[in-house]
Amino acid sequence: MSALGGMEQALTPFADPAWLLETHSYDPLRESSRASRFSVSNGFLGVRGMRAVSRGEQQVIPARTYVAGLFDTPGRGQSVPVLIPAPDWLRVRLLLAGGPLVHHPSDLAAYRMTLDKRRGMLLTDARLVAPDLAISLRSLRLVSRAEPALGLQLLRLGIEAGSTAIALEASFEGMHFGLVAEHVDRDIGIWRTRHSAKRVAIAASARLWIDGREIAPAEHGPMHWRWTWSCHPEQIVEFERIVAVVRSDTPERHPGEAAQHTLSAARHRGWRGVVARHQDAWAERWQRSDVEVDGDAPAQQALRFALYHLNGAANPADPQVSIGARALTGDDYHGHVFWDTEIYLLPFYTMTWPEAARALLMYRYRTLDAAREKATRMGWRGALYAWESTDTGAEATPDQVVGPDRRVVDVLCGHQEQHISADIAYAVWQYWEASGDEAFLRDAGAEILCETARFWVSRAQLEPDGRRHIRGVIGPDEYHETIDDNAFTNVMARRNIRRALDAIALLRARWPGHAAALATRIGLDEAELQLWPEAAETIATGRQADSGLFEQFEGYFALEDIDLSLYAGRTVPMDVVLGRERTQNSQVVKQADVVALLGLLPDEFPGAAAAANYRYYAKRCSHGSSLSAAMHGLAAARLGETAAAMEYFHHTAAIDLADTHVAIDGGVHIAGLGGMWLMTVFGFAGLALRDDGLALAPRLPATWQGLAFAVEWRGRRLRIRITRESRAIEATLLCGAPMMLHVDGTAHALNAEMALGVPVAGLV
Ligand code: BGC
Repeated sequence: MSALGGMEQALTPFADPAWLLETHSYDPLRESSRASRFSVSNGFLGVRGMRAVSRGEQQVIPARTYVAGLFDTPGRGQSVPVLIPAPDWLRVRLLLAGGPLVHHPSDLAAYRMTLDKRRGMLLTDARLVAPDLAISLRSLRLVSRAEPALGLQLLRLGIEAGSTAIALEASFEGMHFGLVAEHVDRDIGIWRTRHSAKRVAIAASARLWIDGREIAPAEHGPMHWRWTWSCHPEQIVEFERIVAVVRSDTPERHPGEAAQHTLSAARHRGWRGVVARHQDAWAERWQRSDVEVDGDAPAQQALRFALYHLNGAANPADPQVSIGARALTGDDYHGHVFWDTEIYLLPFYTMTWPEAARALLMYRYRTLDAAREKATRMGWRGALYAWESTDTGAEATPDQVVGPDRRVVDVLCGHQEQHISADIAYAVWQYWEASGDEAFLRDAGAEILCETARFWVSRAQLEPDGRRHIRGVIGPDEYHETIDDNAFTNVMARRNIRRALDAIALLRARWPGHAAALATRIGLDEAELQLWPEAAETIATGRQADSGLFEQFEGYFALEDIDLSLYAGRTVPMDVVLGRERTQNSQVVKQADVVALLGLLPDEFPGAAAAANYRYYAKRCSHGSSLSAAMHGLAAARLGETAAAMEYFHHTAAIDLADTHVAIDGGVHIAGLGGMWLMTVFGFAGLALRDDGLALAPRLPATWQGLAFAVEWRGRRLRIRITRESRAIEATLLCGAPMMLHVDGTAHALNAEMALGVPVAGLV
């Protein structure tokens, strides 16, 4: 069948520019950052936004395709598992008699790369000019949101001038990079990791049409095709490549057949079918998660960029994996999973894509044994999750890294940054509250809550002052190590224990059989359980009774107080400016710590305590992590400090979007992107979970005339619109049973029959 008809349309970006991100030039300085920014991903496959047809013999920047979960410990000096890039399936060269038509990306006469966020694909538009030849080229690249195993590449060449012999060569690249080729045939390749016994199979099909007529390749070798023909003006050449990728985690399972089967089903539907299903899946994601901002186009752009990457980062079908700190968009942090996922990403998934949230939490359930082992190895009970986690859940934090001052430094986080267990418990409970997913709580969530609670009860030791202390930890502020009673850790641990007790009570009341089975499975008896309430209530928190100010950790207030405003405009992190030792002896904070507690548990900060803590810590924070500004923005927005919140919003947006800002060669900062959603929905709209529904307390930034977003709650789907001009909230229950919506403290009944309009006096 001809490829003509439809391809031009598929190659045309969505009409509304608010959904597009474009770049027009080639800039070697920024190329790698752009490759991160323009990545396409579906949570299983991730492809960096490298050019497909702009390469000569040499790669200017290596291509990268990632397969989630493809971890291996390569050996030789490498002590922790890393995500191994898969062979890149997108290489295309145009060859003339004298060699490649394009030797270097800057050879392109005109070039435009467009991230079509609406349709979840990368499009390019270019002109290739050689002596006596001019070709227009358009391309499309996607990894399917509907069928995560599938990747699609389309190219359309229009010969504008010149008649000559030409060849199009399609091949794979990096076939021997980090993986061992087990079997590479014409249309299928199977590779394995060196040590972890994983396999990845890629089945591929490539076809070419000239003026609507398919022609056979002149050469077809292993994962390599070459077509040759004589081109002439007005000729249209169309190329299609479909790949199906399957990962297998067990040596006895061979993924080749599954890949071939998936590919042949996709070929049967054809590229139009692949594109159509992908677009439908993205349309559904946007319907369930879009955020609209009226009156502030840059904020709208930044949010859509964040949502694009968030919706691309998760795969609800695979509970074997979670989301790494750079998702599947770059090599930094090697695909390792941090607290970023539970604290900065999960709220978005929980509230707009519970299926994805569940899969991410099931990954933590699956790695619970590794967390139990870590706790046991360190002399405690229960489950202590890995600070950096890969496929097995074993601790994957390296012992040393190169610090921001280019010196090798020891990393203690794998031993000391233990708040991760409480962070995971936090996300479990938030998911349960928002989704009401009983099967999850019964079969997985309660066990995570109990084992993490059990860890804290053994970890927080009772001392002669009658309080339990958690000594020798690192809090979110990683500038201070081996500290005692980090407020964030201790208060989150207390909450962890309390919620575990709630979960047990709930199970006993509603599903006593499950409660008994859980107790037996984890050996939790009454005597042990009796200790928990006392343990929770006696954990030291560092809260000053008079001011409500939390001391970040014991002795923090006595450290050198440095005025950070004197260092405004610096271009390096504060620990480089001051040196490690002075930083450690100062009150300079790397990132939101007590402020993160304020962001996560606002009820712990009654009355004036919220503002007092925010003011104290905001000016001591140096934002040495991309996670930091978003938490400050959330806290500031809730306090009604919308101008400050907007600064944090722009700061976070700039990390991945501003070419003048931090280089993002190593991938997008997905936690910061999750933080943008948090700032907007939990911050500016003031969303909170209640037992009988949801609550809103909007505080819109001055430039925002309106804010609309979608959220889900216990099987219901809602659309909320906040409008400054009418000073009102309009809430529509799109599906599901009636529920309550609390606005600025007053409860309103919301049902599917009629949209609810609520005036908001405070919106000015
Ligand atoms: C931050 C951590 C974070 C990690 C991965 C570090 O720089 O301090 O909080 O989890 O990056 O994003």
